[in-house]
Amino acid sequence: MRPREITDNIYWVGAIDWTVRDFHGYSTLRGTTYNAYLALDEKITLFDTVKPSHYADLIHNIGQLVDPEKIDYLVVNHVEMDHSGCLPQIVERIKPEKIFCSKMGKKAIIEHFHPKDWPLVEVASGESVSIGNKTIQFLETRMLHWPDSMFSYIPEAKLLISSDAFGQHYATSERFDDEVDHSFLMEQAQKYYANILTLYSPLVKKLLAKVAEMNLDIKMIAPDHGLIWRSHIPDILRAYQHWSENRGKRRALVIFDTMWHSTRKMAKAIASGIYQEGVSVKLLDLAVNHRSEIMTEVLDATGIVLGSATLNNGLLPRMAGFLMYMRGLRPTNKIGAAFGSYGWSGEAVKLLNQAMEEMKFDIVESGLRIKYVPDHEKLKECVEMGRRIGRAIVAATEGQEE
Ligand code: FEO
Repeated sequence: MRPREITDNIYWVGAIDWTVRDFHGYSTLRGTTYNAYLALDEKITLFDTVKPSHYADLIHNIGQLVDPEKIDYLVVNHVEMDHSGCLPQIVERIKPEKIFCSKMGKKAIIEHFHPKDWPLVEVASGESVSIGNKTIQFLETRMLHWPDSMFSYIPEAKLLISSDAFGQHYATSERFDDEVDHSFLMEQAQKYYANILTLYSPLVKKLLAKVAEMNLDIKMIAPDHGLIWRSHIPDILRAYQHWSENRGKRRALVIFDTMWHSTRKMAKAIASGIYQEGVSVKLLDLAVNHRSEIMTEVLDATGIVLGSATLNNGLLPRMAGFLMYMRGLRPTNKIGAAFGSYGWSGEAVKLLNQAMEEMKFDIVESGLRIKYVPDHEKLKECVEMGRRIGRAIVAATEGQEE
């Protein structure tokens, strides 16, 4: 894809990865982009690079605008390999005068690439660098989502280059938010937040407050993945505010894995009971739903109802894997309940409850175990349990806007 001017003399020169389907455990079903930006000014400046596999795309794009060797400055907003992986090749090729990075970025660059004589220049929040007609102001965003992460703000262009924040794994030929379907874009942004940023929500809240306090004039937010925000900036800022507050909607998820369909029968009956109380509900069978799709739903659901049959005194492996993934992302403010069928030992429900206690879910039921196959009476118990969970969700979301 050709480079594209995004604002006055600043170009997108990144790469589109149409084929990637897994991003360290996150299902990237629509591929992704590795965005890099080139400012043509007295000091020609490249913001971030791309995944090593896409180095040729980056150099080709830059080469359509300027001889890459004429680049003066590199800005490394983030050292994760999808943005910095081809730094060794780029540094070798362009021999930059300076490489700007945060203090933690410098450490991370050294620990990743073990450079001998790269011209690394540490910058701190609030520092500015002139590149001619434009200025770069740096804003460290530690742990959003790596210790080294930072934003670059260019006041003359009212442009915020936001690293991973506000990104989406979404490969497109288009570059701007108003050139694609808005709801699909917001879904991809939600999936990104849910799977990358949920555990840092308290820091996201602080950062949003800090950016508001700085009163930055922003007309464009250019993340390192996906589409650039220019027409829907209020929407993405509002969404980040909402997601960072961990306020669930009046919605429940029944997430389960089943061995011989008994746990599935229970799941359907529980979901039916939840819905009878006016709560929107989704059944998510782990056999057919990827963990990262489920976490996208978890982000703004209030009720999380987990079901697993017992296998070898433990959980079914897909549920165990999902719990490990969810626990790492630390969702908060959830109402929880557990269920499952069993044959003789039946530990699954206890283990599900333990996992939810560790995640500080509000467990509203002691858990329902049914031996082998539920009959009509047992399924009625499931419906009743679902209704009690539904009422708890209604009470927890009373007065809340959807
Ligand atoms: Fe897109 Fe944290 O790298």
